[in-house]
Amino acid sequence: MRRIRVNLGERSYEILIGRNLLERCGREIASLGIGTEAVVIANRRVASLYAGRLARSLRRSGISCRFEYIPDSERAKSLGEAARLLGRISSIPSSTDMFVIALGGGVTGDLAGFVSAVYRRGIPYVQIPTTLLAQVDSAIGGKTAVDLPQAKNLVGAFHQPRIVISDVGLIRTLTPRDRRGALAEIIKYGVIADRRLFRFVEANLGRISGAEPGPTEKIIADCVRIKARLVEADERDVKGKRMALNFGHTIGHAIEAAASYSGLYSHGEAVAIGMVVATDIARSLGILGLSDAARIESLIRRSGLPVTVRPASLRRVYAAHLHDKKFSHGTNRFVLPSSIGAVRIVKDVPWRVIASALRKRSRSGASQGL
Ligand SMILES: NC(=O)c1ccc[n+]([C@@H]2O[C@H](COP(=O)([O-])OP(=O)(O)OC[C@H]3O[C@@H](n4cnc5c(N)ncnc54)[C@H](O)[C@@H]3O)[C@@H](O)[C@H]2O)c1
Ligand SMILES: [Zn+2]
Repeated sequence: MRRIRVNLGERSYEILIGRNLLERCGREIASLGIGTEAVVIANRRVASLYAGRLARSLRRSGISCRFEYIPDSERAKSLGEAARLLGRISSIPSSTDMFVIALGGGVTGDLAGFVSAVYRRGIPYVQIPTTLLAQVDSAIGGKTAVDLPQAKNLVGAFHQPRIVISDVGLIRTLTPRDRRGALAEIIKYGVIADRRLFRFVEANLGRISGAEPGPTEKIIADCVRIKARLVEADERDVKGKRMALNFGHTIGHAIEAAASYSGLYSHGEAVAIGMVVATDIARSLGILGLSDAARIESLIRRSGLPVTVRPASLRRVYAAHLHDKKFSHGTNRFVLPSSIGAVRIVKDVPWRVIASALRKRSRSGASQGL
């Protein structure tokens, strides 16, 4: 098992990564002294797979638990669902010795974290991420949120978990599409900060896609270290240091928004296309060499992730881009690779450069009037 510490003064915590951790998480959580009554928030799909093992481990360590079930989709990240959970939690007698466990993917973690952040102005919570995406990304860093109809993650709070327990065995039951989506984020970490990680993924793609525990544990640890370092440098995301994590996300978010979060593109798929477009933009601006650009695209393709977007989406991507721009004081800001392992933040990329990269990546190559 690996232990990685996130150093944030009194809000510091550990991230545990390894096999069979669900069986021993009771002991780890009990040693924190955060309470003896756990409210476990999970959807029924994840609960049916892992609730029994978690409950047994908790009870062995003297922690009682009750489960609160949430819907299995992004729709769970709503103010209505948060209010319902807060009502349930507040009806628990002797709730002073209570804490929350998020058992699930990023949706569960964001919602359970938000509820923990606002209930009594903050109660302890534990992240037990069950998707690869949550293990490498969303469970770490303390960003919690729910969505509004206007946009995703619009209502939120910073609230760090007290521990993150990532059992690599849990991701075996994920769908291949969910695993591929997380691969996009893993490739992102390699491009922004770690050339060796990128090379490791290139060399071990089959084993990682097959969720083989050894290589999976290693890449989760590498990604977590990168994210932990950025979170330590800029906990509240005000100094721009966490911005590198947005590589592929500017266009990625626009693609998701253009598809109205219909599921046409998963987040990871949209980010994959966004990374390829950002790589093309970096090439056009003369920031990135040809061979690194080719390696980025090739790894994304080999991972089974898309590198093209439906032409019909292009106009809407443009509209979403303008909408984003409005909220960043009239400028756009792209995270662009300067080599594999290093990025630059570039402001005011001309629209014609963006449009030309998007056209190149449109499935038909059609101009769509852009
Ligand atoms: N807080 C952050 O810093 C941060 C960062 C990135 C993403 N996010 C958020 O994370 C969310 C996406 O997270 P996600 O990709 O984990 O999606 P998700 O939570 O919807 O999980 C994906 C699917 O996998 C299922 N699932 C979860 N664990 C499973 C398992 N072990 N076996 C089988 N099925 C399992 C879920 O029920 C769900 O259907 C988004 O809402 C996004 O905004 C937050
Ligand atoms: Zn992402």
